[in-house]
Amino acid sequence: MRNTFLALFLIGGLTSFGQVYLDPNASIDDRVENLLSQMTLEEKIGQMTQAERGSIGGQGDSIKQYYLGSILSAGGSSPGTTVASWIEMYNTFQAQAMDTRLGIPLIYGIDAVHGNNNLFGAVIFPHNIGLGCTRNAELVEECARITALEVAATGMDWTFSPCLAVPRNERWGRTYEGFGESPDLVATMAEASVLGYQSDSLGNENSILACAKHFVADGGTQNGSDQGNAVISETELRNIHLFPYYDAIEQNVGSVMASFSSWNGDKCHGNGYLLTDVLKNEMGFEGFVISDWMGINQLGDFKSAIAQSINAGIDMAMQPNDYIDFITHLTALVNEETVSMSRIDDAVRRILRIKFQLGLFEDPYVDNSLADTIGCVSHRNVARQAVRESLVLLKNNGVLPLSKDGTRVVVAGSKADDIGVQCGGWSISWQGSSGDITPGTTIKEAVEEVVGSENVSYTASTSIPSGDVAVVVVGEFPYAEGAGDIPYGDDRFYISNSDQQIIDAVQSAGIPMVVVLLSGRPIMLEYLIDDADAMVAAWLPGTEGNGITDVLFGDYDFTGKLSHTWPRDEDMVPINEGDGSNDPLFAYGFGLDYSATAVSEIAQYEPGNAFRVYPNPVAENLYIDNESGNVIDVSLTSLAGELIAQFDRTNSNSIQIPMNELPKGIYLVTIRKGNGITTFKIIKD
Ligand code: GLC
Repeated sequence: MRNTFLALFLIGGLTSFGQVYLDPNASIDDRVENLLSQMTLEEKIGQMTQAERGSIGGQGDSIKQYYLGSILSAGGSSPGTTVASWIEMYNTFQAQAMDTRLGIPLIYGIDAVHGNNNLFGAVIFPHNIGLGCTRNAELVEECARITALEVAATGMDWTFSPCLAVPRNERWGRTYEGFGESPDLVATMAEASVLGYQSDSLGNENSILACAKHFVADGGTQNGSDQGNAVISETELRNIHLFPYYDAIEQNVGSVMASFSSWNGDKCHGNGYLLTDVLKNEMGFEGFVISDWMGINQLGDFKSAIAQSINAGIDMAMQPNDYIDFITHLTALVNEETVSMSRIDDAVRRILRIKFQLGLFEDPYVDNSLADTIGCVSHRNVARQAVRESLVLLKNNGVLPLSKDGTRVVVAGSKADDIGVQCGGWSISWQGSSGDITPGTTIKEAVEEVVGSENVSYTASTSIPSGDVAVVVVGEFPYAEGAGDIPYGDDRFYISNSDQQIIDAVQSAGIPMVVVLLSGRPIMLEYLIDDADAMVAAWLPGTEGNGITDVLFGDYDFTGKLSHTWPRDEDMVPINEGDGSNDPLFAYGFGLDYSATAVSEIAQYEPGNAFRVYPNPVAENLYIDNESGNVIDVSLTSLAGELIAQFDRTNSNSIQIPMNELPKGIYLVTIRKGNGITTFKIIKD
């Protein structure tokens, strides 16, 4: 009935004043002002309130009663395992909102942080720590674009992503939610993610609202403690943790989530300098700021906390279960003028502007045509590419690439056949869990697809079958947020005893060993790296385990580069590029590949005219002529970085590397010159 009435007005061009906000041809600002001018305080505060789906009743009666502006699904909070159950829930709640006096549609938010990870059957991408290793912004944008599709298919309008944390201490349980330790890398991937979620206009079909989080310096707390205190200068805060937000704002990110953490003892949720002076006024952020899960409550007495946080610049409050108390207190605060009506109006303007930009007033209900795209092959193929490009080769003595033809592969370790472990936290449930949590391909299944199940022997114990090569999968069980923090003295920085026992058993069996590490952060490998013939950091790859075998069997080369400096031991943590520390196990940006130049193929190698490298076919040695005189020294190392030989420049002009004394394999030659370093790989075949 109401739409017909509206249609008659619009057709007749007779948009009365009170209806301007319903006119899609009116400017966004006119629509916002027209609507705001008609809203009661109750309706305004309702727009600033977000409740959790589980606390508003099955039919969402509270939405209409309290004019709620937003609903969220907490991690793992689902109406069911079918798309239909999500669509029915969303439309039921939206109908409540549309049935209010002014018919202001809901905006529904969810943590779709690596795919629509709440939804059974959706494709789950690598977590951000792995996406950072791809260094491929276009790919990250495509992953976000697909996520937006699979989110919109369920009706959700908003994802609490991308996480713009710059994790500086790997003790933090949310390290994997960040793209890496480099502000530049995070900024690049933040921009790509926002573009993927929102496209270049929120009004475009299937665009969803992005949310840059958690503002600010969530990744800079002391000892990496979650929701802790970042004791850093403003210069460090700006140069490292604020830096990525410029790119997200440049890309018109429509929402920002405040961080639970503190800066020099001040909770971000109540910090007006950060939320208003810096984010809104200095950086020009025009979207709205949402609090984190009862983050306002952490400021102290609830009513005072509400006053402090709203006046500081929080525009929408994530109050999953105590939204009625929030509404009551904020109403009282406005009536007693502790919170001004102009602050309320500013918050509501920001929220309404996004809702108009999203087109929610014209198109409030779910587009059912997207349901078939969820988990489809084309989406999974993009995720498979993201897995491939996220892998980082840390060591390879030549055992990789594996041969497909008749190779008998031992696949060892329970994590090799566990989608839940592959996906990590924020997967179907908030904390994630091991087991068959959603459709996908485990590493074991992927190996079977390549060599045939008849050539695969799987073991989750230390009883090791015979085989030509072993793929041993070790790493971390799923966790999220503070549950993943590693306090001092905790041994979770090291692989578990059960994982180590399997490695020892494979080594005792004398089978060449490829170790695949599934983890949300660099963990301590110094004693493991020697045991392995090859070592691959696979991070938390998600549902498409065949992205791993694509590279292990050589269909694709490794391209991933570390998004974190890899500490040699836990006493080195925190260790980050450019912080003056040295001698990590692997540097930020490290990553090997299969390409190398055979010694016999090195002819007149003159990478910079500083020297000439050429083989001595007869003696199988490698000569390095220091013709320019500025070679300082030459080192020969294994791919893992173990030093094999070091040649300081003597008076003689040529350095001879005795290749004939070395076993076959791939080696690194590093030539230090007065003006830099040249490294190249050689194969002794
Ligand atoms: C959590 C997280 C935040 C998430 C929110 C909603 O506590 O800190 O990243 O978006 O609550 O689930």
